[in-house]
Amino acid sequence: MTNQELRQKIKHHNVLYYQENNPEITDAEYDELKKRATEIGVDTQVGCDPDRRFAKVRHAEPMLSLNNAYNQKDIEEFLARVKKSLNIGKLEIICELKIDGLSFSAVYEDGALIQAATRGNGSEGEDITSNIMTIEGFPKVLPGVKGRLEVRGEVYISNSDFIELNKNNDFANPRNAAAGSLRQLNPEVTASRPLKYFAYCLIGGTAVTQFEVLNRLEELGFCVNEHRFLAKNLDEMLQFYDKIYSKRCNLNYDIDGIVYKLNNLELHNRLGSTNTFPRWAIAHKFPAARGKTKLKRIIVQVGRTGLLTPVAELEAINVGGVLISRASLHNYDEIIRKDIREGDIVVVARAGDVIPHIVEVDRSSRLPNTPKFVFPKTCPECGSRVEKVDEEAAIRCSGVTCKAQLIERLKHFVSKEAFDITGFSDKHVESFHNLGLIEQISDIFTLEKQLSQFNLQEHHGWGKKSIANLLNSINSRRTISLDRFIHSLGIRFVGQHVAKLLANHYVSFENLMAKLSNNQVFHELLHIDGIGEKIAESISLFFSEQHNIEMLNELASHLKILPVDNNKRSAAISGKVVVFTGTLLTLSRAEAKKQAESLGAKVASDVSRSTDLLVVGDKPGSKYKKALTLGIKILNEKQWCEMIGLSV
Ligand code: IVH
Repeated sequence: MTNQELRQKIKHHNVLYYQENNPEITDAEYDELKKRATEIGVDTQVGCDPDRRFAKVRHAEPMLSLNNAYNQKDIEEFLARVKKSLNIGKLEIICELKIDGLSFSAVYEDGALIQAATRGNGSEGEDITSNIMTIEGFPKVLPGVKGRLEVRGEVYISNSDFIELNKNNDFANPRNAAAGSLRQLNPEVTASRPLKYFAYCLIGGTAVTQFEVLNRLEELGFCVNEHRFLAKNLDEMLQFYDKIYSKRCNLNYDIDGIVYKLNNLELHNRLGSTNTFPRWAIAHKFPAARGKTKLKRIIVQVGRTGLLTPVAELEAINVGGVLISRASLHNYDEIIRKDIREGDIVVVARAGDVIPHIVEVDRSSRLPNTPKFVFPKTCPECGSRVEKVDEEAAIRCSGVTCKAQLIERLKHFVSKEAFDITGFSDKHVESFHNLGLIEQISDIFTLEKQLSQFNLQEHHGWGKKSIANLLNSINSRRTISLDRFIHSLGIRFVGQHVAKLLANHYVSFENLMAKLSNNQVFHELLHIDGIGEKIAESISLFFSEQHNIEMLNELASHLKILPVDNNKRSAAISGKVVVFTGTLLTLSRAEAKKQAESLGAKVASDVSRSTDLLVVGDKPGSKYKKALTLGIKILNEKQWCEMIGLSV
């Protein structure tokens, strides 16, 4: 998997988990992806962008995630790392429970609750002020408090309340139920749900240790978890972990580990954070719930880019309260590595969500002569030859007209992150395709015409109103920005980020088509900062196929594709002298410089009277102070990105 694919994959699962409250992979699998990303230095977003139905709230300080540890060695390394960077021999660590809920932030001004938000993508969350107010025991007023105070914590639903609430099996687990309940447009619905919360973070105030923070939160009337412990060394930390691990089933709420935090808040400042997590804390995760069952069959599914994904069909088994009948097998290499065969007895694990994974095979119970699993040589959907891509574990269908690929591409095209055609579900895509109404992407925009000669109402599930609604939402999406358009095409390795790079580079659809349909595309693409060989190869392959060019022209004839508005941006920046200071989180220095220059700015290395703008990243140095004294305009990284038209 390339870095870009990994980033996209994590993003995809973030949407399912944080936005749709409906994860496809286990927490353990998700953690595995994040771990891989961290190891190879790929930055990934925390959470996911706020749902557009809610007002956005920008967090004064980013709401970060936690780095994960799975064993004693990971914790030892964490302690060693911290001690080394602080040059300290002894540390006081506060141990808290890691509540498996949904994080919130609540802002108080002079003691009055003025705004509450979800984490969202870490920088911007969703406004849930009226919803949080419905939670029993959530303080709306803090008597005697002056100035700004922000409280953060976790909203959850207790296990007994969940059983009561979930009689119709609407939710996969208490966490999804809590997330779904808090992220309601109608606060009355939230009020009818048994939400609870624990607070664990206080921004503002005078506490100097996390221990004091928890006490102060309690004093202010917040619910704070009773289980907390100040540990002086690794042994004490692990003792607390073991104690809680063995009594977790009596807690009546889900926890997925222990959080260790440095107690001294001053040290938090000194250590700071990476893009995604603070360096002063770590989550020691509990191992996933497990069970043994029979693997009945391995089926192979075909994805949008032709990727063949094996899935295990299992004899249904209850693992930690959830009935499991399928497990993800990731890819061919995983089947070989674990030697998984049809008919095997396997150990499946899940950690709080829907599709679990296979940990290992119970070799002792394998029947003699059980054949090895043979991966199909041809696509199970269209019969085309399959090919293994070098360096990747992936096996793909080579067919250009593979029905399964087309359907997955169509699903991607109409999805929220792409064309965002509301009401166009996966089922609709499949049924329109089966009815011969949509053969290729552009047919979506001629659907109305097609339907005038077709009686859809004769087919099950289609009423006049639902057809009209769908056509309306298709029509409402005929105007689209260039980057979104590019992303929607589902070209391999071209996610939102690369689509934006392409859009900014080519500016208009017409220019993009003119430049990308000649033979020199590959080298031309490599000149774009952020596009490497793999991406360039995939894009040139896409544009080298005549049927794709025809499809694009046909598609564009139904749409208004908005060019990137460069004028507005360069007017604000052109001719200005810009200086960068501190660590930029979203861009490399070189990239930032290049972008500024491409918009006509001059990038200088030092602040002087002739400086027009100072862009300040994390931990700025003396340039920042100098700019303040000289009264130079200062922008933070977000503001800068907004100014140059990069959404972060
Ligand atoms: S501290 C800067 N403490 O776990 C991060 N987080 O996987 C501050 N969580 O985003 C988080 N219990 O939503 C902290 N006692 C606890 C927690 C906790 C649950 C959540 C939180 C965080 C997520 C990371």
